[in-house]
Amino acid sequence: MTDIRPIKDETRKKVYIETYGCQMNVNDSEVILSILQDDGYALTDDMGKADLILANTCSIRDNAEQRVWGRIEQFRQEKVRRPGVLVGIVGCMAERLKDRLLDSHVVDIVAGPDTYRSLPRLIAGVTPGNPGIDVALSRDETYADIAPVRMDRNGVSAYITIMRGCNNVCSYCVVPYTRGVERSRDPETIVREAEVLFENGYREVNLLGQNVDSYLWKSPVSPDKDVDFARLLEMVAEVSPEMRVRFSTSHPKDISDDVLYTMAMYDNICKHIHLPVQSGSNVMLEKMRRKYTREWYLERVEKIRSVMPGCGLSTDIIAGFCGETLQDHQDTLSLMEAAAFDSAFMFQYSERPGTLAARKYPDDVPAAEKTRRLNEIIALQNRLSRESNEREIGKTFEVLVEGVSKRNGDELFGRAGNNKVCVFPAGGHKTGDYVSVKVLSCTSATLISELI
Ligand code: SAH
Ligand code: SF4
Ligand code: F3S
Repeated sequence: MTDIRPIKDETRKKVYIETYGCQMNVNDSEVILSILQDDGYALTDDMGKADLILANTCSIRDNAEQRVWGRIEQFRQEKVRRPGVLVGIVGCMAERLKDRLLDSHVVDIVAGPDTYRSLPRLIAGVTPGNPGIDVALSRDETYADIAPVRMDRNGVSAYITIMRGCNNVCSYCVVPYTRGVERSRDPETIVREAEVLFENGYREVNLLGQNVDSYLWKSPVSPDKDVDFARLLEMVAEVSPEMRVRFSTSHPKDISDDVLYTMAMYDNICKHIHLPVQSGSNVMLEKMRRKYTREWYLERVEKIRSVMPGCGLSTDIIAGFCGETLQDHQDTLSLMEAAAFDSAFMFQYSERPGTLAARKYPDDVPAAEKTRRLNEIIALQNRLSRESNEREIGKTFEVLVEGVSKRNGDELFGRAGNNKVCVFPAGGHKTGDYVSVKVLSCTSATLISELI
């Protein structure tokens, strides 16, 4: 069986890895660990013991980068204490800032998202005053042949990256610049990875891409053997009925009826869609270059709910984008009510250098007003989340147990297919089991349930 958990070996050199940003970065850190284990390293969660400190970074908003700059100052102190230790900045911020990261005189290694295979070479080449940098972007790197070393704590749920990069040019977004062009990964390697996870006790895979609906694997044999996202979902769902499948992110302009029908057909494809809307105003959506309208979005929501009643729906929202008026903001609030989201990630707009929006539109909503609008959005979502949970009271769900509840050691927690977290008495069950529960009451974040 392929070894997919970290190697425990005190004699090896130690790497410490911190991960910022999205789920794809979490999975990339697992790819990095796989490459470094092959190079003789073992993972440590104690920075003070590491020979190599890596930060896998995010550039999506300015505050994500500021956090890493703060960490670089702490890495500096670690280097004062232990001069031999190497510091590497990898991921999206490495790609965006390139050799500017070296000005700190702390960083020894800079590697972008497509150059992780070069890490052993970069590390070997570092000498005092002579750092290693590789930030080339690739048209075809998918790390398809690398078995990620799983760093999750529960051993139940794992990420599988199915594509890299992004071909959309949402005007606010830095991802196309940090991750390069979109490319899909060979479906056979995806299915194989899911099989290995299942053999190792995992019961849930989460397929990741910036826009999974544009996944497309071109068959070298014939176009009718091409694999699109609906087909890929089917292939992964067929690994085992005991293995649940999740995915994100869906793009409202691309999510197809085919995908919805495939979801409905398989019990083990979780009924949850993360469908970032960003704004409820057509004027903003146009400026954001999202390529759909409010009406199109709400039609997709209606279709999702007609094909899969009870399907969980979550979203991302940006408050205070360039030129956003009070009316545009009201449109976002009214769309949230109309879509009745179960949950949302909500952000203030943060201008990213080099993006279309940074070049074309002034970032003109005052900071205090952005905060006010964001708070209004968050307050509304809290109410919608609570109402959504209240609608579940009395219903039964199949839950995959993820671990012991933090509040009460006699209780377990896990997610229903719709992505809602349920808490319930342990009753002899353990992590990795499927259990049926009935919802008794709720908070805005949790469904309090009993075993049935
Ligand atoms: N590929 C996904 C989103 C990836 S980024 C998609 O297209 O939906 C995750 C979220 O970060 C985005 O959905 C957006 O809401 C937010 N985001 C991206 N750029 C941002 C910026 N410049 N300022 C604030 N939020 C941003
Ligand atoms: Fe960014 Fe848009 Fe691509 Fe999502 S689809 S990663 S928001 S450019
Ligand atoms: Fe951040 Fe890069 Fe992900 S910018 S959100 S880590 S793709």
